[in-house]
Amino acid sequence: MFRAMQVVLRGEGRRAAAGGFAGHCGYSTASGSQRLAGKVAVITGAASGIGKATAAEFVRNGAKVVLADVQDDLGRALAAELGAGSASYTRCDVTDEAQVAAVVDLAVARHGKLDIMLNNAGIVGSLARPELGALDLADFDAVMAINTRGVMAGVKHAARVMAPRRAGSIICTASIAGVLGQLTPHPYSVSKFAVVGLVRSVAGELARSGVRVNAISPNYILTPLVKRILRSGTLTRAARSTGGSWRGTSTRWKGVVLEVEDIAKAALYLASDDSKYVNGHNLVVDGGFTVGKAPNMPAPAQ
Ligand SMILES: NC(=O)c1ccc[n+]([C@@H]2O[C@H](COP(=O)([O-])OP(=O)(O)OC[C@H]3O[C@@H](n4cnc5c(N)ncnc54)[C@H](O)[C@@H]3O)[C@@H](O)[C@H]2O)c1
Repeated sequence: MFRAMQVVLRGEGRRAAAGGFAGHCGYSTASGSQRLAGKVAVITGAASGIGKATAAEFVRNGAKVVLADVQDDLGRALAAELGAGSASYTRCDVTDEAQVAAVVDLAVARHGKLDIMLNNAGIVGSLARPELGALDLADFDAVMAINTRGVMAGVKHAARVMAPRRAGSIICTASIAGVLGQLTPHPYSVSKFAVVGLVRSVAGELARSGVRVNAISPNYILTPLVKRILRSGTLTRAARSTGGSWRGTSTRWKGVVLEVEDIAKAALYLASDDSKYVNGHNLVVDGGFTVGKAPNMPAPAQ
């Protein structure tokens, strides 16, 4: 097993040792900084991984959060864990625009407004990595429907209720796979490049309405989504196909492991008024993984 995976897996062990989700996140015990006091948020893909950690961080900082997902049991359990006064769960399949509109309207009906929309639901799709000639366009459509169209629906309906109040922060989860090609199967990568593209496309129009929109692009984190990729061996093959040059890059900070809480804190910054002038930005949280590549050229013969 290559070293990047070993470091990530060590990180998971450390979290488990800290005593489960509440233990490693600390929302139930630590006193929050209340940077989102009085704010109302909707998070899609909130039942697991990055969305779950961000929901906890938002609640810890004083927000009321509507959790939206298709994993009902996990979503309800998280809402109960975070507390009925702070969080509620509602089913929302982001491929259905009416359901996205409904969760936005629910937040407004329940809390009077929407301040923060985190469009985070995502899937990786097929891990088959066929040659382009054999690319399954049904899989492409399925990934785009959630990762890109679902995000566009979230941006559209959040803007619908935020613009009249001339306030709001929309955040879209992209990926390092939308910064560099070849890290993942094409549908996922294309879907994430498109998320960054849609953020840049709509940022100017939204700014005129007093609403901000930004993306966050995480590096690999061992969530259920990435566990699926690791089990398939796809990352190992990708490392080989790129000459293995990226492999060590994510491990260059020895002992530092990216965790879902780091993305939650990035989302907290973009959600809060601390980022009041940050718009159309892609906040890449990757430890510098995507900023460069070693030339990897052989020394010339003397
Ligand atoms: N984990 C990583 O390394 C990583 C890196 C970069 C980007 N991301 C992105 O972060 C986001 C969250 O992923 P994660 O790693 O926490 O994975 P995850 O699988 O733990 O969470 C994704 C959530 O999205 C939900 N979801 C899937 N389809 C949905 C739909 N149609 N409607 C509503 N919800 C749906 C799932 O039920 C799940 O709860 C995704 O957009 C993913 O692409 C993850």
